[in-house]
Amino acid sequence: MTQHLADRPQPASGPGRSQDQAHDWWRDAVIYQVYPRSFADGNGDGMGDLAGVRARLPHLADLGVDAVWLSPFYASPQADAGYDVADYRAIDPMFGDLHDADALIRDAHRLGLRVIVDLVPNHSSDRHEWFQRALREGPGSPLRDRYHFRPGTGERGDAPPNDWESIFGGPAWTRVADPDGTPGEWYLHLFAPEQPDFNWDNQAVRDEFRSLLRFWLDMGVDGFRIDVAHGLVKAAGLPDMGHPGQLKLLGTQVLPFFDQDGVHEIYRSWRQILDEYPGQRIGVAEAWTPNAGRTALYVRPDELHQAFNFHYLNTPWDALALREVIDSSLDSMRPVGAPTTWVLSNHDVVRHRTRLGGSLARARAATLLMLALPGSAYVYQGEELGLPEVEDLPDDARQDPAFLRRGAHEDGSGDGQEGLRDGCRVPIPWTPDGSSYGFGDGGSWLPQPAGWGGLSVAEQTGDPASTLELYRAALAVRHAHPALGAGADVEWLEAPAGVLAFRRRAADGTAFVCAVNTGEAAADVSALLATGKALLVSGTGPDTATDTVTGTDALSAGILPADTTVWWQE
Ligand code: NOJ
Repeated sequence: MTQHLADRPQPASGPGRSQDQAHDWWRDAVIYQVYPRSFADGNGDGMGDLAGVRARLPHLADLGVDAVWLSPFYASPQADAGYDVADYRAIDPMFGDLHDADALIRDAHRLGLRVIVDLVPNHSSDRHEWFQRALREGPGSPLRDRYHFRPGTGERGDAPPNDWESIFGGPAWTRVADPDGTPGEWYLHLFAPEQPDFNWDNQAVRDEFRSLLRFWLDMGVDGFRIDVAHGLVKAAGLPDMGHPGQLKLLGTQVLPFFDQDGVHEIYRSWRQILDEYPGQRIGVAEAWTPNAGRTALYVRPDELHQAFNFHYLNTPWDALALREVIDSSLDSMRPVGAPTTWVLSNHDVVRHRTRLGGSLARARAATLLMLALPGSAYVYQGEELGLPEVEDLPDDARQDPAFLRRGAHEDGSGDGQEGLRDGCRVPIPWTPDGSSYGFGDGGSWLPQPAGWGGLSVAEQTGDPASTLELYRAALAVRHAHPALGAGADVEWLEAPAGVLAFRRRAADGTAFVCAVNTGEAAADVSALLATGKALLVSGTGPDTATDTVTGTDALSAGILPADTTVWWQE
């Protein structure tokens, strides 16, 4: 499979890009997350796969995104939907093989799309060869040192080594049997028991991941989304948390196993590897940290390029709260010179349409706000269709270990969909009919709701009021407008209560205004938008008219309806 880099088509720069911007493509890229199980099924077995993704790449090119991030497709027993990797250099047969990955990367590049793959360095699968050997060889084996094995506490060693909790519920330790069958040591798993944590003090672990980076860079990928980037290094001596209690996905607690300063040395060494390759290969940290300032440390100039902004994702639909998190996000990135990122949905959280209150209008307004902010933005598959969370999946269909281990949550947390992740992973609809609405010919691994086809890509294409056309229009405006993307900073404007408004002025003087009504009633914004014209309004579908605010009577009277965002050219 190894091929010369020169043979590989390099992604073209997007429309309206200068050479310099192409050079720093990641500073304002819109990156689309593909969840391979649920995007498109090429072989009709009910499970999405790489052939399916490849066949649907034109949808992403038409949408106008710059890059695709693929959630894990590696060989895996799928205890955590592929975030439990048994072989980091192989594709799981249910997704295809390395030839499919190669073809996908090549096709994406031909379409001008960059490809980012998920790297899972905090833990492997318990089926990984190293872990299996560690079990077989027993205490004292050098293979055990690649993970965190410890004797238990209590008289018979039958209590865990410390009080750490798994994110999926219950203790973060599981006891194994010694090779002779007697109860033996415990191993650490911050997630499911099938996901043992690597010991990053072990040199073999460090060497292996540097080699893995090269393997995938040689395959032509443009970067890595680094899973649990904040978790690799644990506090020395593995001290107790002190306050056990259920931990949350994307949480902000200060913990002895997250966000330790030692992680940064690892990312400095990875940056050197990324920089050896042409074309600006990037690293993106999935780092849950206590505040935006801590997140910024991951993207210092000699570390990674981007970090997800979960503080933004976790912010309620409220003008003041949004203004605060936007300010703190931008302020924290300034000293390190990294782009801020924005994200509303991913495969771990309730889809933003449902999370923010259920109305499609609000979801669309939230999206236009996100896409108007300086920096890079992430779009999760299906949000461009306005998909809601599927909240009524039958229990026996669910596969999320967070659900399967729910009984282990002592405090009964996880009411509703919170902490449950299958509802945002339902295969997406491509056509109005068919056994799985065009997802594939063989049904779908999670049941799709009745009516899902009405939200399909085919159904929405060409309908100017559709959410899909709103996303397409927004991404086109964002690419073409000189004040959008990375460049101009945010200048807050005075606005009525509940309204968030800011101006961004391009170097050539062109001024763009974004106004968002998060309140419950329509707001008079006539003073704010006195001169100029609307570029796009979230509530009425795309309106790229250049001289009038057609189709938005309320807005032309200076009234911004509730749950509406307008993009305005001053
Ligand atoms: C974060 C991933 O996004 C999530 O899906 C996964 O369960 C955990 N990391 C563990 O790998």
